[in-house]
Amino acid sequence: MGPPADISTTAEWRALADHQGQMASVHLRDLFAADPGRADRFTAAVGDLVVDWSRQRVTDRTVELLVALASRAGVVERMGAMVAGAPVNATEGRAALHTALRAGPGSAAPAGGADVGPGVQRELERMAALADQIRSGRKLGATGQPITAVVNIGIGGSALGPRMACEALGAFRHDRVRCRFASNVDGSELATALSSLDPAETLFVVSSKSFATVETLANAASARAWVAAALGEGAVADHFAAVTADRQAAVGFGIDPASILGLWDWVGGRFSLASAASMVLMIAIGPERFSEMLAGFRAVDQHLTDRPPAANLPVLLGLVAVWNRNFWGFPTRAVIPYSSRLGLLPAHLGQLDMESNGKQVRLDGSPVSYPTGPVVWGGAGTDGQHSFHQWLHQGTDIAPADFIVFAEPDPDLAGRPGLDSRDLDRHHDLLAANCLAQAEALAFGSAEGGDGDGGDEPDRHRRCAGNRPSTVIMAPRLTPSVLGQIVALYEHQAAVQGAVWGVNSFDQPGVELGKRLAGPIAAELASADPPELGHDAATNALIRRYRRLRGRPC
Ligand code: F6P
Repeated sequence: MGPPADISTTAEWRALADHQGQMASVHLRDLFAADPGRADRFTAAVGDLVVDWSRQRVTDRTVELLVALASRAGVVERMGAMVAGAPVNATEGRAALHTALRAGPGSAAPAGGADVGPGVQRELERMAALADQIRSGRKLGATGQPITAVVNIGIGGSALGPRMACEALGAFRHDRVRCRFASNVDGSELATALSSLDPAETLFVVSSKSFATVETLANAASARAWVAAALGEGAVADHFAAVTADRQAAVGFGIDPASILGLWDWVGGRFSLASAASMVLMIAIGPERFSEMLAGFRAVDQHLTDRPPAANLPVLLGLVAVWNRNFWGFPTRAVIPYSSRLGLLPAHLGQLDMESNGKQVRLDGSPVSYPTGPVVWGGAGTDGQHSFHQWLHQGTDIAPADFIVFAEPDPDLAGRPGLDSRDLDRHHDLLAANCLAQAEALAFGSAEGGDGDGGDEPDRHRRCAGNRPSTVIMAPRLTPSVLGQIVALYEHQAAVQGAVWGVNSFDQPGVELGKRLAGPIAAELASADPPELGHDAATNALIRRYRRLRGRPC
């Protein structure tokens, strides 16, 4: 029996709804009081990650029912089809074979019948050759000076992941080559990225799977003009590389074919961190460290394919996300890394999860009758404790929180001049203590705040009722491998959720309308003569207001 058209009509879904009703009056305090071994039983490892999900509102019965739901939805089959290169991206007739990017040499990875493994290895080798050339100072610009700065021009999956990873792995960055990013079409971003750079020593990596994204092409054109103005038109080829699935378009832009790294249509932008979209990352941390990151991805991929659902962390965490979203009605999910360098992770996961599952139509074209992808948001701890944690603890909505914490400080901090390692240890202990305290406070509430069930307490303003779910992911330290493991864990959770909801987690048709509307409006804002406007009254008024403020005739 294949997966049902509407998962919410199944007995498995109804059983979970009934189960939630029975759990509605149960506090996490009760679950821990009734089961001293709870913390251990709801803690599991994948790779170097130890995942404690005991503060989620789950029992063994919950897990049983969620696994039954996964079975009814065909989650294992859909994950198997995904890693086998089947066209799971049904609306675009494509595979979603990001696991092939990190499957390692010699692994066969079919997409549409062809083995993509050799092509993946070839591009990794080409990436490594370019990275080594730049890191060794052998990559020279048009004037014979070594390249000392790389600017990644890209947006969405062509920026968020690589930028997050460059930041996260700052401890492993090259000591001479600077890596910068320009994604937004706001000119201030490119200006900032170029500030203090010497065109003669700067290489631009235009990263765009389609090589058609307006923001990226606008930034690339301005960067090209910046190079040409300083070094002449003939210098462009020496100062540009590209990462794209549309090689011809990159050549048409003026990029030397030898400097074009390949992407494939079976890799979605938000799933492309292990691909050449991370060329800038490989330049920053080097090919060896990049391979360590791929190995981290691979460890979680292996776990996904090897483990039965009840012992499969990406599956279980994806199911818990469905449990929180559809049966507790929590509209958002917070990701709170207790690591400054990992501070961009929530933004990357925002695209990964929300662009994957922000859908309202199932694969068969029928409208869903239940909520799908939540808002995924967050920020680094401890900073969040001084901005949104008030809401987390006492807001009228509940956001299940994923905390990520490392046992050791970033490896490059020790030996920093002027910073005593004892001080750094104290910093790190405080950082970790705050992470653990937040999870405890959210789960169990405030002791002086009484019994958490709305009892008549003297100071209700201070009362934290607790019973707010969270998961704590702990790893020894933030390394390339651990980063790969973390990202893979969330990539697969997104796919598992989409499989339960029956949506296509690998396309993004909803972004096209806004892009289509922006083109004509840009022309109407900029035209020398007053434009004929045919929009709604508000848009027409805004266009006129903007033109007036820019001193253009209306
Ligand atoms: O937001 C839509 C989107 O297509 C993303 O999926 C993608 O990561 C981004 O735009 C950039 O696309 P490209 O890499 O083709 O420039």
